[in-house]
Amino acid sequence: MSAATDSQRMEKIVSLCKRRGFIFQSSEIYGGLNGLWDYGPLGVELKRNLKNYWWRVMVHERDDVVGMDGSILMNRAVWKASGHEDTFSDPMVDCRSCKARLRADQLIDKGKGRQCPNCGGKDLTEPRAFNLMFKTYVGATEDESSVTYLRPETAQAIFVQFKNVLEVSRKKLPFGIAQIGKAFRNEINPRNFTFRSREFEQMELEYFCRAEEGMKLLEYWKEERLKFYENIGIARDKLHVLTVPDEERAFYSKGTYDIEYDFPFGRQELEGVAYRTDYDLSQHQKASGKSLEYFDEETKQKFIPHVVEPSAGVDRTVLALICEAYSEDQAPDEKGKMETRIVLRFHPRIAPIKCAVFPLLKNKEPLVAKAKEIVDLLRPHLFVFYDESGAIGRRYRRQDEIGTPFGVTVDFETLGEKDAALRDTVTLRERDSMKQERVAIKDLANILVSRIA
Ligand code: GAP
Repeated sequence: MSAATDSQRMEKIVSLCKRRGFIFQSSEIYGGLNGLWDYGPLGVELKRNLKNYWWRVMVHERDDVVGMDGSILMNRAVWKASGHEDTFSDPMVDCRSCKARLRADQLIDKGKGRQCPNCGGKDLTEPRAFNLMFKTYVGATEDESSVTYLRPETAQAIFVQFKNVLEVSRKKLPFGIAQIGKAFRNEINPRNFTFRSREFEQMELEYFCRAEEGMKLLEYWKEERLKFYENIGIARDKLHVLTVPDEERAFYSKGTYDIEYDFPFGRQELEGVAYRTDYDLSQHQKASGKSLEYFDEETKQKFIPHVVEPSAGVDRTVLALICEAYSEDQAPDEKGKMETRIVLRFHPRIAPIKCAVFPLLKNKEPLVAKAKEIVDLLRPHLFVFYDESGAIGRRYRRQDEIGTPFGVTVDFETLGEKDAALRDTVTLRERDSMKQERVAIKDLANILVSRIA
């Protein structure tokens, strides 16, 4: 696809997100705040489905992983020990011509020296380190003694609770601790919609192991994570694995992969899978003076475990899911004339609404009553949406545009008015193929649950 069509595609996606209630600009009525976003009624469902599926495969379906939920604010000492206070920074450059603040790696260089990507100006300051953590104060006094930061990653809460979780869960190595939660980074230049935000969510696993298992587990987790993205409907050929070169890797990491996705604005990171050695636990043990060692019952040895970390961004994955799902095709309207249909082809597993239920006509009481009965029948099993307004074709289109995979229509056959054999059956329509089948109401819940799983 050309750059122009890619940017048009992105514009259409951003506009659909607002129009249908996936994502809004934060504080929009006050002009917004750069790099901050709110999820609307459909966005919040999509995000929840993604997080629930991650939790299901990373925690519930495994014997070797437990979860936790740490606080966002932690003792400042955590950020000193982890290295964030001294080194969690990006190189920042100011353009003296247009006053833009830029990340040094965003400057353009067309062979004539570094230029500002905004105005093309060459009058730039030297890069200086800008710490990305948001500083705040805890308690009633605002001085150095009360300083801390909004966490820039969820991982550190896991490291500092390692001993407590180990004791209560009685796990043996290798085992992991998983967490989903907010993280904050004062990004110099937030951009590409929600891709680089200042407040976002992470889904992180810290998988603790023996040193000799580290490299093998790095490969294992890379493969597991690729499978995850395929299982939520991201095409394998749009996913790429970048082996982070030695010079770009954190000094303590023995190997890092970035899992990337082909967004309309380019190939960009969704998740990092890093072998962080024993760096984090060692740092916290040193700084806190508390043992973070593991005792091996068999060998009677004590040591600091190593860790492999798959760290995924919720918001980036939501954006990838929307970009992947967005499609336009041709479908007949009410009168059989072909028109453009916008469809979000979400995997049923992550689709915000699983099934829409429609009475064919809203002014026919028995149709409406039956449709409402079906809503009540399905509601304990899946998220359903009832819609009686407008022509049935329009109602299908509205659901296609928000990615609802199934539609159930209650018609006169359901009431047994045309053929007694069809009494208590409905039309089940599938979003992508638009194929319709006749199914018994009593089988609906089972059929839908098995197709969504
Ligand atoms: N604990 C390791 C860690 O935080 P990271 O590569 O800095 O590693 C992990 O972040 C993931 O968090 C990224 O792959 C991305 O999906 C997400 N992420 C990081 N910064 C982000 C931002 N400014 N906006 C949205 N997501 C972000």
